Amino acid sequence: MTHSVTPFTSRIVGCGSYLPARAVSNEELARTVDTSDDWIVERSGIRQRYFAAEGELTSDLAVAAARRALDMAGVAADEVDLVVVATATPDNTFPATATKVQAKLGITQGAAFDVQAVCTGFIYALAVADSFLRVGQHRCALVIGAETFSRILDWTDRGTCVLFGDGAGAVVLRAEPSRPGAPGLLGSRLRADGRHYDLLYVDGGPSSTGTAGALRMQGREVFRHAVANLASVVVEILAEQGFAVADLDWLVPHQANLRILAGTAKKLGLAPEKVVVTVDRHANTSAASVPLALDTAVRDGRIRPGQLILLEGMGGGLTWGGCLARW
Ligand code: UT7
Repeated sequence: MTHSVTPFTSRIVGCGSYLPARAVSNEELARTVDTSDDWIVERSGIRQRYFAAEGELTSDLAVAAARRALDMAGVAADEVDLVVVATATPDNTFPATATKVQAKLGITQGAAFDVQAVCTGFIYALAVADSFLRVGQHRCALVIGAETFSRILDWTDRGTCVLFGDGAGAVVLRAEPSRPGAPGLLGSRLRADGRHYDLLYVDGGPSSTGTAGALRMQGREVFRHAVANLASVVVEILAEQGFAVADLDWLVPHQANLRILAGTAKKLGLAPEKVVVTVDRHANTSAASVPLALDTAVRDGRIRPGQLILLEGMGGGLTWGGCLARW
């Protein structure tokens, strides 16, 4: 959606991320799964992933990432009046994990809810929070992507269990008076096509089986949709805002597969050096992957004030989308 004139612009004023302590290499997985480091690296670019400790929950990961984002922003938790958590692996079926995060951070004002768009979850959550802030309904949001996908993997399905990891990333989004050329989110576009529900889903749930279920994916089919959908959504957002691909300083994509990142960059005519890549170290952390990648590139100094950044993602639903920001 193009951002028409609204009283406020929302701006990312801090980011943070958290990975569990336990890193698991491909070699370690290959001891219990019928796979190899060579296959995983060649097909996905993944070299390791992190798994949450027993008893370490999605909300714990989310809170750790949120604290780091608040620190960078110099914002006190009690200034936050909106907590949005993107997750497909909530602590419980209800209430929203966001309410637990809110309480753990000592926030007692405003609203807290979860957004469910699987790997596109952070993009959806950012667009939703941005809409609330731009009209003045809320002033300061924590937008978090947090997942413990290790809990929904089928360890006998080598086509999926080697691809995912746990983690969390967060941003602090603050409403600032709108003025032309100022830093902030410039536009977003969210898409879904539920006809492809069965390409990537969990075969359980409270209303179907009464169990949590395990992740199922037709990888090759999802791959086919990913490059086409992501390239088109990037072009649409840029065109809406009057930019060309060449104007982009950084593409911060969902990290599912190195070949998808390379394929999308190639289709866009974007130099591969402008794509932030963390899939090798983090694997696919679903809704956490975009803010994890963003935080990595901000903290290592690649993303700098004034640059044009495009965040994008694609996942189960199918869902996909992107957000354009002036840093
Ligand atoms: O985050 C949401 C979006 N998700 C994605 O974007 C994922 C998209 N899909 C993918 O990234 C890729 O499709 C995969 C990485 C999942 C798979 O790569 P692929 O090149 O599409 O491989 P494939 O599924 O077609 O499997 C090729 C072969 C098969 O053997 P045969 O039938 O050719 O003999 C598989 O059985 O590789 C075999 N295979 C494995 N071998 C070793 C599948 N998984 C493994 C494994 N280790 N872990």
